[in-house]
Amino acid sequence: MKQEVIISQNLQQDIQDAILRQTYDRLFVLTDTTTLRLCWPLVSVFPCFEDAKMITIGDTDENKTLESLSHVWTALQQGGATRHSLLVNLGGGMVTDLGGFAASTFKRGIAYINIPTTLLSQVDASVGGKTGINFGGLKNEIGVFNLASSVILSTEFLRSLDMGNLLSGYAEMLKHSLISDVESWAELLQFGLDNLDYSRLGNLVAKSVAIKERIVEEDPTEKGLRKALNLGHTAGHALESLALEQGRTVLHGYAVAWGLVCELYLSVVKCGFPKDKLRETVLFIKENYGDPSLDCKQYERLYEFMKHDKKNVGDSINFTLLGGIGDIRINQHASKEEIFEMLDFLRDG
Ligand code: GLY
Repeated sequence: MKQEVIISQNLQQDIQDAILRQTYDRLFVLTDTTTLRLCWPLVSVFPCFEDAKMITIGDTDENKTLESLSHVWTALQQGGATRHSLLVNLGGGMVTDLGGFAASTFKRGIAYINIPTTLLSQVDASVGGKTGINFGGLKNEIGVFNLASSVILSTEFLRSLDMGNLLSGYAEMLKHSLISDVESWAELLQFGLDNLDYSRLGNLVAKSVAIKERIVEEDPTEKGLRKALNLGHTAGHALESLALEQGRTVLHGYAVAWGLVCELYLSVVKCGFPKDKLRETVLFIKENYGDPSLDCKQYERLYEFMKHDKKNVGDSINFTLLGGIGDIRINQHASKEEIFEMLDFLRDG
């Protein structure tokens, strides 16, 4: 089944069309406290939302919990939702993941539409049907694959995003280009991030999402090819977990960008990825994302985190690597020594 992804030029028309394509009895809109303040005012005046019932949860990943999920189920129940009701998720990845899971499980599943409001959720989380919540200290531990009926992407929402959050999403776009083609990769490295042209950014978002859609369509439940989307994430998740343990905040995309530095280095060593492309990518990442200020005393802990990554099978650490841009090699493994060398490369460049 293909998910409808709409690159919106006219938000009112596109939202209205997507909603009216569904036959529903009651309409619910899920926001978090931030998107209620910054994004809901941009769409609340649209006639299609006139009778919508609002549900709001706390913002940030800390609220991607069973308690918030229960709050959404309760609000749906008390608001009279039936199996024919429709949920619109307006927010970043936390809202679209949690809302998607709430919709997928309420009365065994109601339809939902995603309107992602951050660059990260537009290019990644809202597309491809991964839904879920954090549980037992682990991210996205409970969830299901279930596609939204429609995903509506608009740069209107990106205007209120700070540079850190824009860069966070941009790292996933960089990843998509690396697993796809040299032209997209070169275009992203050349795009002016200081003086943002939102209309050009919209075109880049559309191309990036098309890469993800192609992969998800071929392998919706990550049996094989979808693992390509994990490039940069084995090392990236470890860096994110380490930061969390040390009480530091690292935006997901920053960890992914540093994870890309690590895994492209491994790609050179193990799969012959071209060194000049590694150098150019690393330069771009160092210039825009800085470096993670690593200390070799942290290597053992990072290695432990990688060993417990949920993408592993058995004891070996699973990486997606590249033989070149667009030349995907899934299910690659590296020794502890190679992994420590990779971390040296990230630290010293
Ligand atoms: N975020 C990676 C995926 O959707 O598979």
